[in-house]
This record gives sequence, C-alpha cells and structure tokens, in this order.
Amino acid sequence: MKAHIAILAGDGIGPEVTAEAVRILRAVAEKFGHAFILDELPFGGTAIDEFNDGLPVHTLKGCLEADGVLLGAIGGPKWGPTAPVRPETALLRLRAELGVYANLRPVAIQPALLEASPIKREYIEGVDLVFVRELTGGIYFGRKTKHEDRATDECAYSVAEVERITRVAGLLAKKRRGKVTQVDKSNVLETSRLWRAVSERIIRDEFSGVSIEHMFVDAAAMHLIRNPRSFDVVLTENLFGDILTDEAAMLAGSLGMLPSAALGDNRRGLYEPIHGSAPDIAGRGVANPCGTILSAALLLRHSLDLETEARAIEAAVSKALAHGARTADIAPRGASALTTRAMGDTILSAL
Ligand SMILES: NC(=O)c1ccc[n+]([C@@H]2O[C@H](COP(=O)([O-])OP(=O)(O)OC[C@H]3O[C@@H](n4cnc5c(N)ncnc54)[C@H](O)[C@@H]3O)[C@@H](O)[C@H]2O)c1
Repeated sequence: MKAHIAILAGDGIGPEVTAEAVRILRAVAEKFGHAFILDELPFGGTAIDEFNDGLPVHTLKGCLEADGVLLGAIGGPKWGPTAPVRPETALLRLRAELGVYANLRPVAIQPALLEASPIKREYIEGVDLVFVRELTGGIYFGRKTKHEDRATDECAYSVAEVERITRVAGLLAKKRRGKVTQVDKSNVLETSRLWRAVSERIIRDEFSGVSIEHMFVDAAAMHLIRNPRSFDVVLTENLFGDILTDEAAMLAGSLGMLPSAALGDNRRGLYEPIHGSAPDIAGRGVANPCGTILSAALLLRHSLDLETEARAIEAAVSKALAHGARTADIAPRGASALTTRAMGDTILSAL
C-alpha cells in the first residue's frame, strides 16, 4: 500500500518521541512491503518561531492531503499564557480543520507494568477501557469574554454533536463488551442534561445489545480509581474527557504509555500520545516513546486499515516491556532506565 503520513513533531519531547515512531513506521513499511511517504511539517511553538503561526498554511495543506497525521506534542513555557500567539490555538484549529470530533483514548494495562502504576495491582489487573471524548465542541470552543474584573467561557453543545459522538461510542461498545458509561454533571449543567437525554436515545434506538449508564463526573473520577474494571466505553464531553483521561493514564503507570486517535467522518485521523511536551525533561533523551509508537499503530489501524501491522507494533511494545525495557517514567525507583532511543531500539528489534 502507498500512503502519505504527515508527521508533526512539535515542541519539547515531541521531536524525540516522534523520531522513534518514524523509525517504527519505516520498519513496518519494509517488513510488510508498503510505501509510506512521511512528510515532516512544522507545527506548534517551533512553527510560531519560524512563521509566526502555529499552523502554517503549508502544514495545514499537508495534513489535509495526508491519509493520516501523527503528532508528537506542542507547547512550552516559551509560548505561555501571555504569549501573543499560542501553540494550543494551532492544535484546536488543526482538530477543527480536520473535522476530528471523536477522540479515542484506550487505557489497557500492560501486564509487565502492573507494578509501575501508583494504584495497587488488585485494582488495575485486567483493566481494559476506552474513552470517547468529544473533541471539537464545548467550553474549549465556546465564546470567550475578558474584562478587567471578570472573564467567561461559554459551553455549548448541539443535539447533532452529541448524536454523532454517541454513535462512535455505540459502535465501539458493540465490538467490545457492550457497555457505555456516559459521564456528565447533569445535576447542575444544562449541556449535561442534553448529553444525557440524547445519548440515552441514540443507544436505546440504534444499538441493540449495548447498554448505557450515566454517571456524574465527580463520581466517575472516584470510580476510575476504585473500580476501573467496571468501565468499558466511557463517553464524555471535551473538558471532562481532557481531565479524566489524564487520571485514567495513571492506571497504566505513566502518561508516556498511552496513545490516542482523533477521528471524524472520513478515514483521515489525527494520532498523538496523550501527554504534552514535557518541558521538564525535554532535550535529555529520556522521554517514553511508547505512547507515540502506539499512536502510530492506531493510525495504521483506523486510517489505513492495516490491522495486522498495527497489532505487530502493539505486540512489539508489549514484548519489549515484558523483557524489562523501561524508560525512567516506568522504571522502578532507583533502577537504571533506557533512553528514548534505546527504548525505540528495543521495540524495533522486537518488531
Ligand atoms: N496535545 C498536546 O500537545 C498537549 C497535551 C497536554 C499538554 N500540552 C502542553 O505541554 C506543556 C506541558 O504540559 P504539562 O507539563 O501539564 O503536561 P505533560 O504531559 O507535558 O507533562 C506532565 C508530566 O508527565 C511527564 N511526561 C509526559 N510525557 C512523558 C513521556 N513521554 N515520558 C516520560 N514522562 C512524561 C512530564 O515529564 C511531566 O512531569 C504545556 O505547554 C501544555 O499546554 C500539550
């Protein structure tokens, strides 16, 4: 297969972790006889420095023409909250331009990493859940006002927006254990009441064999720690999903382990690890590349329909971990750890 993949390394540890994912993609192409054309394009803070725009026109064009987009991470103290142009704005724009409204964040615990989680083994063993987070609506995209003495952020959702994301959750649940947990704050928020009613109707009318339960976001935050095995597909809005997925990442041991896929109505998706640019460790070559490598696997699965190749990458990551390969974030305290490159090497040999 011939495929175009746009690579947006971004800022901080972004270039370090995407370099490893690129090596894996090249190895997969060679092993399975594909031609992947990998276009590395400027994005985020580094693009602001060069072009005064976090999403330059040629980067956007390259992403729109690609079959899939792989992103490292963006942001950093250099482009903080008072900067005139911010990298985060570029990412929100890119998601909107690509029309990727459904963010899939799987959280599966690698057996080899049961001891790396701050949560006890008996709680996390066998956890296998996936978040479906709405990505292009809600408070991040609402009208904002800023005055001397007050500021506002509007949270708005339409019925159509909730319907389409609920269908993504329903389809996933059908292929998995058949359970959707919709998370909201419907005891206080009007948008949450809309989410509850619409998601209930869509699952009931269109997904026989799938059940839906509703949970307040504060209770969900607790249950994710106390009984994470009870979740299958977690459906939620943009802000709640942003927060809960970071919490859920800790079940897996580290933010550095988890991939994500942002999908829309066509096959082209945006794939990225769930972590940020980690300025505290950037440039030291110690970041965990697994989340980005596993994101490349999701790209092969969802955008290119290459299930065997995706599984080969996932198996290689599991094998490397089972053989004891650890970057600092998942290594036992005091133990020596691999560099980003050495972790990439180990996964490459496992592949
Ligand atoms: N999608 C994105 O690109 C994205 C997402 C979240 C945050 N950010 C941006 O990243 C910057 C830093 O944000 P933050 O510090 O809140 O979150 P972060 O995810 O960058 O880092 C949080 C902590 O996790 C560690 N960590 C993260 N990824 C790791 C990895 N792969 N290996 C090992 N350790 C890892 C970091 O060292 C840090 O201690 C900010 O500018 C923020 O806006 C970007």
